[in-house]
Amino acid sequence: MNEKYYITTPIYYVNDKPHIGHAYTSIATDCIARFKRLKGFDVRFQTGTDEHGLKIQKAAEKNGVSPIELCDHNSQIFRDLTEKLNLSNNDFIRTTENRHVDGAKYLWNRLYDKDQIYLGEYEGWYSVSDETFYNEKDLVKSDDGTFKTITNGTVEWISEKSYFFKLSKWGDKLLELYKNDKGFINPESKRNEVIKFVESGLNDLSVSRTSFKWGIQTPTDSKHIMYVWLDALTCYTNGVNYLNKKVDRMSEYWSNVTHIVGKDILRHHAIYWPAFLMAADLKLPKKIYAHGWWTNEGHKISKSLGNVIDPIDIIDNYGLDQFRYFVLREVPFGNDGDFSKKALINRINSDLVNDLGNLCQRSLTMIEKKLNSIVPNATNKGNDEKKLQDSTEAILIDGSEMIESFRIHDYIKLVWIHIGKVNKYFNDNKPWELEKDNEIRFLNVLASTVEQIKNIAFFIEPIMPVTSREILRTIGVEDINMTFAEMKRISVFGNKLSKVNHLFSRVQE
Ligand code: ME8
Repeated sequence: MNEKYYITTPIYYVNDKPHIGHAYTSIATDCIARFKRLKGFDVRFQTGTDEHGLKIQKAAEKNGVSPIELCDHNSQIFRDLTEKLNLSNNDFIRTTENRHVDGAKYLWNRLYDKDQIYLGEYEGWYSVSDETFYNEKDLVKSDDGTFKTITNGTVEWISEKSYFFKLSKWGDKLLELYKNDKGFINPESKRNEVIKFVESGLNDLSVSRTSFKWGIQTPTDSKHIMYVWLDALTCYTNGVNYLNKKVDRMSEYWSNVTHIVGKDILRHHAIYWPAFLMAADLKLPKKIYAHGWWTNEGHKISKSLGNVIDPIDIIDNYGLDQFRYFVLREVPFGNDGDFSKKALINRINSDLVNDLGNLCQRSLTMIEKKLNSIVPNATNKGNDEKKLQDSTEAILIDGSEMIESFRIHDYIKLVWIHIGKVNKYFNDNKPWELEKDNEIRFLNVLASTVEQIKNIAFFIEPIMPVTSREILRTIGVEDINMTFAEMKRISVFGNKLSKVNHLFSRVQE
């Protein structure tokens, strides 16, 4: 039995259509999920949509439709995006589905029965766009006396009856968790921020609202709607039947789960979520990773600035794999990054067209023309070929370690260093000159190059799955399991090439 691995994206709000930030988290999560499958893990990858709460109710009112009509419509747009991005997700969960609602109520009941929830009155600041309660000390006071969140979001003062979760009781246990398991919150800088926040003291958390209707009724009091974050976080457990009465084999995935989120929602995942689970006496996730924030040509992405980047436009203009490669390569995962068309075009023309595209084009067309499209056999491997083989082995070891520690950009760099080595091998050996004088060497160089192209196709699969398949199809490798074990087993010698096409087109600036 292969080891289980479960990885999730946040579930996205359906008040609006997706933008580049949503696409980014999903692509990065897909990359890790695919890499883990290559390593032989039994991977489950979940994404989905977050559909309850005041934010959604207000968006529906604004659009003149019922909340569920808005949710059905916009959730479908997010689901379509999973196809457009070629995500390998196994599930797409909606918080309006029964399986989710049942799980959220189950957690509520467990917390209630364990005396973790009590009735009180909430008075304080609330941000509808973040669906988050704020302490005044964490807000910024503007010159006109109003308060804003650090990302300049508006907050409103609310005062209503509410149930509270005894979060304040869990501060020490959370700190113990962060201390004992240094890999629980990643990257380290974010872990330190969370520790500081918890050390400064936690208040009990309001977990129900009474001033609107769109949400899950608490099972213990029908006048209260569950706080949307308590509801939403249970999507992760609900998707594998860990938190409802249906507990089955699928719940085994819960033993090894990684949540990928943006830094904006780290607090909810690294503080509230483990506190809820500990209080309910349930198992915790293994890892939480908070990545950075994208800006557009140097500016914060926001609807009011009118600079929201639609991932579909970028994909339609530049290509899916080009987009996936760019967002994963351009910015170290975990850092903030800036989206610029110039940088995207540079990456396409240099890394994809020049490095990877040319390597495949030059070597494979030579086989097409000179050898009737049949890949020769490498009968006599020397030192140069051994070095390439060592470089492949190093990717398997060091590359795995990089993905394990969420350094996706370093992994890509490593693969591109390898591509550079194969290009150099091809150039230095000048097969176009060898053909007449040294036929054995000529055949060896071409065969070894194709062997490395096959390896490269596996290495880039998590980043550019379509290109990976296209390369493998061209070199006659089809209908295979995409695992590194298979990569090592498969030989390309004697294969007949399909018609060799350009993998990427150069983009004019
Ligand atoms: O917060 N740069 O949903 P959401 C990078 N429903 N990533 C970005 C981004 C940007 N500019 N903008 C958004 C919610 N993201 C809740 C989550 S989970 C139980 C509930 C990504 O639609 C990033 O992953 O506001 C961020 O955390 C997420 O979208 C927020 O999506």
